[in-house]
Amino acid sequence: MTLETLVEGKKTIALPCAQWGDTGKGKFVDFFAEEWADIVIRGTGGANAGHTIRFGDKEIVLHLIPSGILHDRTVTNIIGNGVVLDPWETLHEIQRLHDAGYSTDNLMISHNAKLVLPQHILLDRLEEAVAGKEKLGTTGRGIGKAYEDVPARIALTVNDLLNPDILHKKLKRNLERRARVLQTYDPALVKAILSDPEVSSFRNGSFFNAEAGLSLDALMAFYTEYGVQLKEHVRDTQKYVREHVGRKKILLEGAQGTLLSVDYGTIPFVTSSDCSIEGLAKGAGVNRSEVDLVLSIVKAPYMTRVGEGPFPTELGGTESAKHCNASRREQEQREYHGVSVNDADPLRQGIAIRREGNEFGATTSRPRRVGWLDLPLLRYAAQINGPDIIVTKPDVLRGCNTINICDAYRYDGPNMYVGETELKKGQVLFTAIPAAEVLQHCTPLYDQLPGWHEDLREARAYHELPRNFRAIMNYIEGRAGVHIRIISFGPERTQTIIR
Ligand code: GDP
Ligand code: IMO
Ligand code: MG
Repeated sequence: MTLETLVEGKKTIALPCAQWGDTGKGKFVDFFAEEWADIVIRGTGGANAGHTIRFGDKEIVLHLIPSGILHDRTVTNIIGNGVVLDPWETLHEIQRLHDAGYSTDNLMISHNAKLVLPQHILLDRLEEAVAGKEKLGTTGRGIGKAYEDVPARIALTVNDLLNPDILHKKLKRNLERRARVLQTYDPALVKAILSDPEVSSFRNGSFFNAEAGLSLDALMAFYTEYGVQLKEHVRDTQKYVREHVGRKKILLEGAQGTLLSVDYGTIPFVTSSDCSIEGLAKGAGVNRSEVDLVLSIVKAPYMTRVGEGPFPTELGGTESAKHCNASRREQEQREYHGVSVNDADPLRQGIAIRREGNEFGATTSRPRRVGWLDLPLLRYAAQINGPDIIVTKPDVLRGCNTINICDAYRYDGPNMYVGETELKKGQVLFTAIPAAEVLQHCTPLYDQLPGWHEDLREARAYHELPRNFRAIMNYIEGRAGVHIRIISFGPERTQTIIR
């Protein structure tokens, strides 16, 4: 099939991730922006995302600005109303793009996007600092705390940056409400976090106030200035989207992944937005029923996770999780030598796959935890997003003699109720129940398939791909009930086969 056939008659296409993020959304948004889209919209998340786009020897990582921004073709790039926006991070990213020679003239920011403020980043980091074993391993970007303000009815919007009187009133109220919580923390810790030079949004400790924790005056001074600088991009994007939906070609850029969704993910180890297709559509200002094609991105036949939380197929299990959450890339390079994708020790095999796939966080540079493809989770995600998928990064497993794919779990935990049924020890599950209390007791049951040794880059069409590789793709489709529409075998736009 060609891209033209795949997108024929489609006006709105969405690219959510079906896993725990980092599956190549950046690559595919850029690909569709080059080939197809008129408008690209980010609908969820904030600067916790890290979307990498590679062409030739150039690599750009975007955290907030949609990955359609790199095109000479006129593509309107929208930060939608469902995003939580850190104004300083946004200005910084705009500057980085200008320095690299890209224009941001076509960037629109929803006046209704919610703000990430220093108090959110501070509280996110305070909570993680004292959480001990309950730690979530957030990106420390204030995402959860900014979203919390929405149902609490104290959130600020991008629009408030343009209206200093309203900004002052709302900031004061927000700080008063947050002050009660802030008082419960050690003031020395508050000061240390707010003075952290590595958090650029803290502007070198500018917001610290010894009595109140945070200074309203300093916030007013910086945030009104951000408003002045961002003003040219601020638009009623909801109105713009309503005018163009069904007419122009709209691409919805996912952030994070369905298994990190606050509604559908592996709760509580999730982010704070609904990053499934439903949240993505809503946050972009589009109705779910107006999306003509959902292509969920799936890393396979291995997968990754960053931060804490259950990961049944993780290579090296809890030892790997501990290692990844406690170390950095350089440390791992120093400590582990001679690892191989065929290593008999699963921890070392996982390290080798991480190196081959360059699986280190684009936002936090943490080693991403690595494990085998998990079909019970894929079946679950497909129930939410639909069956059409893009497979990315299989090239990483070239030369791996045996590919393990988890077809089912054996539940090994205590008997427990899940809705109307009682889950019993020893029960086999084909579709994941994503709650952490269940998932942490699931033992994967693997099927083993022979790997391939040929270079996938030599294929120009699906039938030219190695036989063992195609057998694995057929197995995934047959067992998980998904349709693989596109296969990606490298970070470049050209390293893509439409099925
Ligand atoms: P995102 O958050 O979903 O946009 O993904 P990230 O950018 O965090 O991580 C995906 C990484 O894999 C990036 O470095 C991409 O350049 C790279 N990548 C994307 N697709 C492929 C692929 O098919 N093969 C390989 N080897 N790398 C890929
Ligand atoms: P992209 O868009 C992978 C994870 C964090 C943590 C949890 C909560 O690049 O795929 P948060 O800071 O959001 O409160 O952290 O969510 N997380 C991601 N993991 N890719 C991402 O984004 C992520 N964004 C958040 O590691 O486990
Ligand atoms: Mg990423």
